[in-house]
Amino acid sequence: MTDENSIDAFIRGIPKAELHLHIEGSLEPELMFALAHKHGVELPYANVEELRNAYQFDDLQSFLDLYYAGAAVLRDEDDFHALTMAYLERSHADGVVHVEIFFDPQTHTERGIAFATVIDGIRRALADGERTFGITHRLILCFLRHLDAADAMRTLEQALPYKHAIVAVGLDSSERGHPPSKFEEVFARARREGFLTVAHAGEEGPPEYIVEALDLLHVARVDHGVRCEEDAALMQRLVRERMPLTVCPLSNVKLRVVQRMQDHNLKRLLDRGLCVTVNSDDPAYFGGYVVANYQAAQRGLDLSRADIAQLAANSIEASFLPDAEKQNWQRKITAFAAV
Ligand code: HPA
Ligand code: ZN
Repeated sequence: MTDENSIDAFIRGIPKAELHLHIEGSLEPELMFALAHKHGVELPYANVEELRNAYQFDDLQSFLDLYYAGAAVLRDEDDFHALTMAYLERSHADGVVHVEIFFDPQTHTERGIAFATVIDGIRRALADGERTFGITHRLILCFLRHLDAADAMRTLEQALPYKHAIVAVGLDSSERGHPPSKFEEVFARARREGFLTVAHAGEEGPPEYIVEALDLLHVARVDHGVRCEEDAALMQRLVRERMPLTVCPLSNVKLRVVQRMQDHNLKRLLDRGLCVTVNSDDPAYFGGYVVANYQAAQRGLDLSRADIAQLAANSIEASFLPDAEKQNWQRKITAFAAV
């Protein structure tokens, strides 16, 4: 840390949670090639560099096409363990103390990989990561919204034996044309089974999708949600309810939700009193993990130390940790920021 300037050391050192992370999106090109070699899978790229160069996206869909193709190298339990361990190691180095990670079972079950293979590998790594790095964790199952609701319902049923290990269900993949209302029944069933709910909404989709996520899916957090500013009444509601938004600054620039970091509304939302948080989304594809996201936002929006501390505090507030653990981390954040 010695060669970091002081704001960067502050960003790295402050305790924080990551609440918006697709584990499949942490698959670095090096591991993708190693697993392709292990399983005799042919990748349409000659090497790591060529693959990295392909990470230029026009929109969400152009990214998703590569993301699903890349995930095809994940085949056995050890692959999911290696993937998750690598993410936890990087997050630990970034001062992340708690993670709530998404996994997309349908991306794998559609290719004939068993649900158990996926979740057992991820869970074993989460347990190892807690022992090794002291990082606590929750797991969130995301349904792919471009598939139909019946497919999501079957996936929910496959998850029931693992109910104790999954805190919430969520909704990801292609947003436009796949509104939250499509999954109202699946989410109602999930809530009856005891799951909390979250959903991607208002990334590329309109603010109406955020309203649907709140009213129909009863979400505890909105993932992305940055298009909320287009609806004044919704903005007031989000402030009043302290409804968390899990914002992903580098993702938003890479997928052209905003054209430049200087145009991002993170700081405006923070100043309006929204419970916004900073997260990496798919760090292997979007150019960095949590610290890189805080740094890019700090530079682009001229965030102060107080802003950074508020974002870290928001990440704990918005987490699914028990209140006593939240209070413990909030005290540590306050003490860290006071030095
Ligand atoms: N949006 C929607 N679906 C996703 C994303 C995202 O940013 N990342 C992985 N799946
Ligand atoms: Zn996401």
